[in-house]
Amino acid sequence: MTEAKLEAWLEETRSFAPSTEFAQQANAQPSLYGEASADPVAWWREQAERLTWTTAPSSTLEWDPPFATWFGDGTLNASYNCVDRHVEAGRGDKVAYHWVGDAEGESRITTYAELQKMVARCANALTELGVTAGDRVAVYLPMIPEAIVTMLAIVRLGAIHSVVFAGFSADALSSRILDSDCRFVVTADGAFRRGTASPLKPAVDEALETCPNVKAVLVVRRTGGEVGWVDGRDHWWHVVVERQSDQHTYESFPAEQTMFIMYTSGTTAKPKGIFHTTGGYLTHVATTYHYIFDVKPETDVCWTAADIGWITGHSYIVYGPLLNGVTQVLYEGLPDSGGKDRWWRIIEHHQVSILYTAPTTIRTLMKWGTQYPASADLSSLRLLGTVGEPINPEAWMWYREHVGGNRCPIVDTWWQTETGGILISPLPGITATKPGAAMTPFPGINVDVVDNDGRSVGNGQGGYLVLTAPWPGMTRGIYGDPARFKETYWSRFPGSYFAGDGAKRDEDGDLWLLGRIDDVMNISGHRLSTTEVEHALVGHPSVAEAAVVGAYDEITGQAIVAFVTLRGTAEGGEMDPALIIEELRQHVANVISPIARPRQIILTPELPKTRSGKIMRRLLRDVAENRQLGDVTTLTDPTVVNMISALMESHPSSED
Ligand code: WT7
Repeated sequence: MTEAKLEAWLEETRSFAPSTEFAQQANAQPSLYGEASADPVAWWREQAERLTWTTAPSSTLEWDPPFATWFGDGTLNASYNCVDRHVEAGRGDKVAYHWVGDAEGESRITTYAELQKMVARCANALTELGVTAGDRVAVYLPMIPEAIVTMLAIVRLGAIHSVVFAGFSADALSSRILDSDCRFVVTADGAFRRGTASPLKPAVDEALETCPNVKAVLVVRRTGGEVGWVDGRDHWWHVVVERQSDQHTYESFPAEQTMFIMYTSGTTAKPKGIFHTTGGYLTHVATTYHYIFDVKPETDVCWTAADIGWITGHSYIVYGPLLNGVTQVLYEGLPDSGGKDRWWRIIEHHQVSILYTAPTTIRTLMKWGTQYPASADLSSLRLLGTVGEPINPEAWMWYREHVGGNRCPIVDTWWQTETGGILISPLPGITATKPGAAMTPFPGINVDVVDNDGRSVGNGQGGYLVLTAPWPGMTRGIYGDPARFKETYWSRFPGSYFAGDGAKRDEDGDLWLLGRIDDVMNISGHRLSTTEVEHALVGHPSVAEAAVVGAYDEITGQAIVAFVTLRGTAEGGEMDPALIIEELRQHVANVISPIARPRQIILTPELPKTRSGKIMRRLLRDVAENRQLGDVTTLTDPTVVNMISALMESHPSSED
């Protein structure tokens, strides 16, 4: 973000209190904060009653920093809690989700009773393929009902899902399969995006060339057409799943059974396998969903517009909403599949009352113009949420006015893959919200903003965001790498969890999240490390060296700008710069994902380095954002940055 923008952001003074009507009916009433802070651990134990336990836990928190257990001696089944118990309680006919396909008119309704049968069949099929408790199963699926069914079936068996976003490349998939030694993969032949079928199965086939331990692949037929097939390994869903019994007797598992792994970028080239366990995670997402989204399962229709390939989809499409027994919209397409008014028509048609999405999507919808939301009846909406990156006040106000009709509270929710669920957010019937601020720690959560030495900063000051006490949904570690877990999160401020975000406490003590302070970028709410992209670039035979920075971007929040020095060609000849730039952009998309494709690549004969050889990314960020250059005195050759600035000005940015 440019300095001027940041300043304007932090000078924001508007504040919006909830209406009396909303406040009166809200799930969270003002006494909640006091009740939780009196004894947070005991309060969380009460919240655990939202789950149906096979063996009720007698223990609550055991804390051997940085390793926590919550409800350690309890046992339960995650899938039973999300599905079966609602059917047993007589709510089987309630719609679990309205699935809305990418193509106009394609939709499917699934009730809780139907979902129970689908999950049972899938669990039986996975058992037949050899899946047992503790096995890791990779899930590489688009946004289709089978994705949710698969996740629920895996945890029903006490196995561990590792969902890999279907936009990731074969390389990214295979490294994730190998890192946690997944033995099974569930995928589809392809996916639809704006009416076009794009294949998925070939990426799985390619990935599995380096993954000899994968025993079976279950394939949903989504797009149709030819697919490569490995006999004995590959199985069609419609053959193996559909012939199973729709009854499945579940077993109960310990609260600390690992439930899933979700890979996320850190500051190195290797993504971290963040793992979550069962009882604490489910308690956390069920509780936050109830209070922050104020859900009334009888009447609300909830739409979390995210992908199940990210933590938002896990916590607030699958587990949080299903634990609360709500009706959801599950949408397969892009915001403009079928037209720029598609979203608003979905809201009108399904009478969506609670909408949760990312600031980057809001900015895209905003760019398209107010005529689109204005063309639909959005009066069913009563609450709006955002997640994934800081939301600029302008987008927040647009969301409030043009989507929420100035009537819906907005919850700006701060959390991370590691935190499992939301930690900082307004409570919609209590908090007077400020555009751009996540405001207040959730009840039972202990947050601080500290300076370099770990001292709490006062109101009106900025610093590093830390969590000073454990919480139920917190990650239990990095899969297979406890040392990295300690080092990454717990060494910077001993005793506290270091989130990697900068934050400010305003004069009223409210929290504003300011984005990452490390070499992690946030592109459209997706986390990517600069090192990961650099690693992909230097993997290209033409590249000698690369430095990557995240630069301010109006729509995506940040965009990737890469500074690359090329190897000399053997013949000493010149390569066409435009061609090589395009090839490198495509190369990064192939190696990681189209999300990681650099917006701009600047070819430069040199990179700015300190005398010890460290690349000065800070200066490159200044260059990329057209800022006055910072201190250059520690550089070996201070003229290098001026040269790069000049190059930057002469390079057009390559927009997609
Ligand atoms: C990073 C976590 C949480 C699900 C999606 C992203 C940024 C997240 C906010 C917010 C400001 C936010 C942080 C955080 N972030 N929510 N409301 N305001 N920043 O999950 O990929 O694990 O990324 O997203 O920088 O550290 P993730």
